[in-house]
Amino acid sequence: MSCICHAVGARPQFIKLASVLAKMSEVFPCRVLHTGQHYDRCLSGEFFSPLRIPEPDWNLGVGSGPHGAQTGRMIEEVERVLLDERPNALVVYGDTNSTLASALAAAKLNIPVLHVEAGLRSFDKSAPEEINRLLTDHVSKILFCPSQRAVDNLAREGIVDGVHVVGDVMLDVLLRTAGGDVECLKRELIRVRGEGEERITLPRGEYYLATLHRAENVDDPSRLTAILNALSTLPEPVLFPVHPRTAKEMRELGHKGGPGKLVLMEPAGYMQMLEFLANCRVLFTDSGGLQKEAYYLKIPCATLRDRTEWVETIEQEANRLVDVDCERIHAAAGMTFPETGRAGLYGDGTAADKITQIVRSFLTSGGDIS
Ligand code: UD1
Repeated sequence: MSCICHAVGARPQFIKLASVLAKMSEVFPCRVLHTGQHYDRCLSGEFFSPLRIPEPDWNLGVGSGPHGAQTGRMIEEVERVLLDERPNALVVYGDTNSTLASALAAAKLNIPVLHVEAGLRSFDKSAPEEINRLLTDHVSKILFCPSQRAVDNLAREGIVDGVHVVGDVMLDVLLRTAGGDVECLKRELIRVRGEGEERITLPRGEYYLATLHRAENVDDPSRLTAILNALSTLPEPVLFPVHPRTAKEMRELGHKGGPGKLVLMEPAGYMQMLEFLANCRVLFTDSGGLQKEAYYLKIPCATLRDRTEWVETIEQEANRLVDVDCERIHAAAGMTFPETGRAGLYGDGTAADKITQIVRSFLTSGGDIS
């Protein structure tokens, strides 16, 4: 065996990689390829060591750009590495341009693509993530799904071979980080350093948490303005770690955060973000990962979109779609987490073990996935 290669590039993928790499590298030689899609220290470098991920074996330094240029550069660079390394398989994560580019490069070289977080659909092809996940699923050899619904989505597209429900790898990382007990993330007071270096103290349950980064919200000035106006008029402070993409657009809009309730700060690290989340009153977000993490920590979530891939959380009334509607955003500020509801929507925190077992049988059977 040569190795299993893991391709990542953007912040949520480093978190997913952490759980899979920890388990898989106990069994197979693994190597990490970072496309360099995220290059800011706060979105990339600072995630590796706290998540116990080794330095990547390759950093392709592709950086930002229009979708075609960014994806094209990645395909070319990933192909070069794969031709050189000839791994037994390539693991890709989620739905970013790094996922699609890496999957395409490997599939064309007949290197099996193993997709972690397969089968999710928002049924909105105007979102780049939907195109990325659709195409990646269709060139993947093994598809690791977080839920039965994801399996059903794949079946509707005719993908039935190599499909496995394993649960959510992000739950594995969350539980590992919290030492198995999410209660240990509770704090009486949250202390943050605001954008202007001022120190701010927020008591538990007396602030909201917000994040925003999707192109559909951030690149559209009317949607971005509507969200910022609604959030800044909520009744309690809104802790808002700002993604670089969002910061750039806010600067262009001349938005400075005040005089409303927004407490702007740099993007938070993984552990810090979990603490912010575990102690807030309600989360407002357009992130996929945070919608699930809020559910795991029993924090009500309002999603700043008109749809979500994580429909199970909506059915449980743990999550609500508020889009950019001021009234709905304000109404969501009073949400509470449902007392009853089905636990374990996305597995039990052992997704990486299951993935490793499946990959072991795949490789020992000479690549027979049926
Ligand atoms: C990407 C993913 C999204 C994922 C998100 C997590 C795609 C299409 N989107 O969006 O699915 O949820 O990452 O954060 O792959 N930028 C910086 N510094 C960085 C990276 C980006 O300033 O380190 C800015 C640049 O202005 C860039 C813009 O963000 O042009 C967009 O970057 P992009 O690569 O599309 O990533 P995200 O918006 O983060």
